Amino acid sequence: MREKLDALRSSALGDIGTASCAAELEILRVKYLGKKGELTAILRQMGTLPADERPVFGALANSVRADIESAVASRASALDAEALAERLLRERLDVTVPGARVELGRRHPMSIVLDETRDIFIGMGFSVAEGPEVELSLYDFDKLNIPPNHTVREWSDTFYITEDESVHLRCQTSPVQVRYMEAHRPPIRIISPGRVFRRDETDASHSPMFHQIEGLVVDRGITFGDLKGTLNALVGRIYGEDAKTRFRPHHFPFTEPSCEVDVRCVVCGGAGCRTCKGEGWLELLGAGMVHPKVLAGVGIDPDIYSGFAFGIGVERMTMLRYNIDDMRLLYENDLRFLSQFA
Ligand code: PHE
Repeated sequence: MREKLDALRSSALGDIGTASCAAELEILRVKYLGKKGELTAILRQMGTLPADERPVFGALANSVRADIESAVASRASALDAEALAERLLRERLDVTVPGARVELGRRHPMSIVLDETRDIFIGMGFSVAEGPEVELSLYDFDKLNIPPNHTVREWSDTFYITEDESVHLRCQTSPVQVRYMEAHRPPIRIISPGRVFRRDETDASHSPMFHQIEGLVVDRGITFGDLKGTLNALVGRIYGEDAKTRFRPHHFPFTEPSCEVDVRCVVCGGAGCRTCKGEGWLELLGAGMVHPKVLAGVGIDPDIYSGFAFGIGVERMTMLRYNIDDMRLLYENDLRFLSQFA
C-alpha cells in the first residue's frame, strides 16, 4: 500500500508539472483527487489493513493529498503567469507611435453666410422667427394678397400636398410674415431663415429646394428709406463697405411699392463679365413696403402703421460672396469643395 501511494504521488506530480493549460490541470486534479479519483480508490482499501497500521497509512495518504494539492496550486499560478506574459506581449502598446489624426469638420459656406447675416440683424435689434415648411395656401398665398389666378398657384410651380390645393410646401418664407403679425403687435422686427420649395429643374442656378431669409419691420413711421438703410447695411457687412447696391422697381403682390435689389458685380466691379452676364449687376433679393391689404388682413391698421419686408436667397448670397458659379456645388457635400471655406 505504501508503494501504491508513493507511485501515485510521483506520477501525479509528474503529470501536473507538465500540464499545459488550466483545462488540462483541472482534468488531472479530478483524476487524482476527485471523489472517483485514484487517491480515494486507494483509501477505500484501508479497511483491509490491520487496525494498528491504519493511522500510519492515513497520515501518509494525507501527506500525498497535500503534496498533490500544492502541486496543482503552484502549476495553476505558473500557468496564469505564462498566460499573462503572453497577453502582455500580444497586446503591447507603443505609446511613442504618433496618434491617428482626427479630421475636424468645417461650417458649410451657406451656414457661414447665414450665421453672419443673423448676427448682423440681431445687432440691429431683430429677432429670429420660424414657420412651417408644409404651409397652408392661406398663409403662403391668400393672406399675402396673391390673386387666385397667379402662376405660382399652378401645379407646375408648387408642390401641393393636398388635392384641394389648401396645403403645399411653402414656395417662399413670406408666410412667416403673416403668421408673426397675427401673433404679435408692432413694433415688429424679425428675420426668418428657412427652406423653400419650387418645382424647378436643377441647374447651375436653380434647385427645387433652396433657402431664403425673410425680413419684416412694422412700426409707426417706417419708410422706404429705412428699407434702403437696412439692406445697404447688410450688403456693406457681407460684401465690403465699397459694395454698391441698386434698387430696381419690381412687382410683388404683398408689397407696394416693390423692388429688386442688385449688388454691383463682385467679380468685374461693374464692367460686365460672365458672372453678371455683361450686366455689371447681380440680383440679390426682393423687397418692398408691406402692402396695406396684408397689414389690414392681420388686423394691423395701415393708417397708423407701415412696414417693409424683404426676402433674400441664401444660395445666391453665398455664391456672390465666394464667387461660386454653380449652385449644385452647395448640395453635393464634396469635401474638396467644402474644405475651402474657413
Ligand atoms: N417672397 C419673395 C420671393 O420669394 C421675396 C420678397 C419677400 C419680396 C418680401 C418682397 C418682400 O421672391
